[in-house]
Amino acid sequence: MNIRSLLSERIEAAFDSLGLQGDALLQTASRPEFGDYQSNGVMAAAKRGGLNPREVAQQVIDTVDLKGIAKDLSIAGPGFINITLAPEFIATASTTPTPSDNPQCVVVDYSGPNLAKEMHVGHLRSTIIGDCVARVLESLGHKVIRQNHVGDWGTQFGMLLTFMDETGASSDSLADLEQFYRSAKQRFDDDAGFQERSRRAVVELQSGDPDMLVQWQKFIDISMSHCRELYERLGIGLTDADMDGESSYNDDLKNTVDFIASQGLLTESDGAQCVFLDEFKSKNGDPLPVIVQKSDGGFLYSTSDLACLRRRIGDFKADRVLYFVDARQALHFKQVFAVALASGISDANVDLVHMPFGTMLGKDNKPFKTRQGELVKLADLLDEAINRANQLLIDRDVQGKNPDIDDAELARLAEIIGIGAVKYADLSKNRTSDYVFDWDQMLSFDGNTAPYLQYAYSRTRSIFARGNIDPDSLTAPVISVDEPERRLGVAIAGFQDLLEQVALDGYPHQLCAYLYDLAGRFAQFYEQCPVLTSDDETKLRRLTLTKQTSEVLESGLTLLGIGVAPRM
Ligand code: ARG
Repeated sequence: MNIRSLLSERIEAAFDSLGLQGDALLQTASRPEFGDYQSNGVMAAAKRGGLNPREVAQQVIDTVDLKGIAKDLSIAGPGFINITLAPEFIATASTTPTPSDNPQCVVVDYSGPNLAKEMHVGHLRSTIIGDCVARVLESLGHKVIRQNHVGDWGTQFGMLLTFMDETGASSDSLADLEQFYRSAKQRFDDDAGFQERSRRAVVELQSGDPDMLVQWQKFIDISMSHCRELYERLGIGLTDADMDGESSYNDDLKNTVDFIASQGLLTESDGAQCVFLDEFKSKNGDPLPVIVQKSDGGFLYSTSDLACLRRRIGDFKADRVLYFVDARQALHFKQVFAVALASGISDANVDLVHMPFGTMLGKDNKPFKTRQGELVKLADLLDEAINRANQLLIDRDVQGKNPDIDDAELARLAEIIGIGAVKYADLSKNRTSDYVFDWDQMLSFDGNTAPYLQYAYSRTRSIFARGNIDPDSLTAPVISVDEPERRLGVAIAGFQDLLEQVALDGYPHQLCAYLYDLAGRFAQFYEQCPVLTSDDETKLRRLTLTKQTSEVLESGLTLLGIGVAPRM
């Protein structure tokens, strides 16, 4: 059940019967004293009819049919309507997501590292944000096709393969990809002959030379095994089957250019094949080309993305294609989408969306680097996170407090907390902004952090453990009696709204904010409403609310790709 849609519908029906026009503008209330939800649409509707907004608000309250849904409606300020939900309505909510009535096929393009190098922190955001949104879409019954558009075909492969060949590099020397890349680049910069051989190698590779392809495949396999390891550690649901890299479009690049030409869209300019579209002009108004083939016949990043759309729309039959890619590629995607639409590769029924994200910064507000000025390797970052989490558990004397937690469980906890903290710190920030990476903040047990939520979850579980109660035995709906119970119930009932929102906009931080609010309401409830020591009826009600909180926290964190533990 989507509460916001239901309330909007009812309020807009009241608008209708009062002869008003407008949107209910429904939001969750920003403060408890404003009820649970607020409708802010009366002011605009009244203005349009030249009416007094507070009087109109009263008429809407008198007219709207929210029987059994709201227990209280009131006017605030110039004409806001505050809505407080009825306990019997909240009782009908479920903690498991309801599948969409309109399931779609959604391609989610995320991670996409360039395989020449090891994954570094710059790849973290795409990987975890995309993964979260893919999970949320799936939880709502959409068909999700994950696509890892790895960079496995660029010009740097000429250099790497030639270096591999000439140094007789073994797989061992590729264990440190960064080092290997640096050495190859060094040779490339210092040695003109090597440079020339590298250039020839790319051409041979891209025209399908069998020997080159064998070498290339070796390189890709090793490089991918690095990625696979990281995906595993991060709990990312990307498999080899999801890897449709740039190379996989090679055979269709020429066809794609021919197809665009057949639509009468190609113009030759300085020997290059270009598409000129009205919406792309330079600052002084000159037409700006989208180049799809260079004068030497080579193809570009845009060409493979166009070929890629032919597969995603033509073969996969995608209704939506979501690209979780750095904000700096905004123009690239605008151009690719525009050419796809103009040429008929795509059409108005397909939703192509670039979901951009900002940069992860160090405390100096500059892109996060090591002291040597290099981008931080993701593997090193995760190692450090786990070490710090381990120290945290020692400082908190977790084993002292729970003597039956053995070393293996402690190590597992450190991993869940460390990796969860890194992921949550990122996911909880609005993806379009840059953010500052801060170990102390992300590993704090206070505030909007993973440890805080994981701890809240473990508290819900420990209530059952202490009471020796099986949560599965609690199935009856709860009609709350006390206000903290009701407020907790309202948050639980809002889970579906939140998931639908994330599925639509692709902002995981909204899910984080929701879970943080839920955990806060649970803390208040737990402080004011004794559970295990209450009379039987009250105890049953509160235990059921605790169970529901536990389920939503677990399912929410799982959708974020973050682990939970029953005790910590
Ligand atoms: N490999 C690219 C990069 O590192 C990202 C790929 C994004 N996806 C796409 N379809 N272009 O910049």
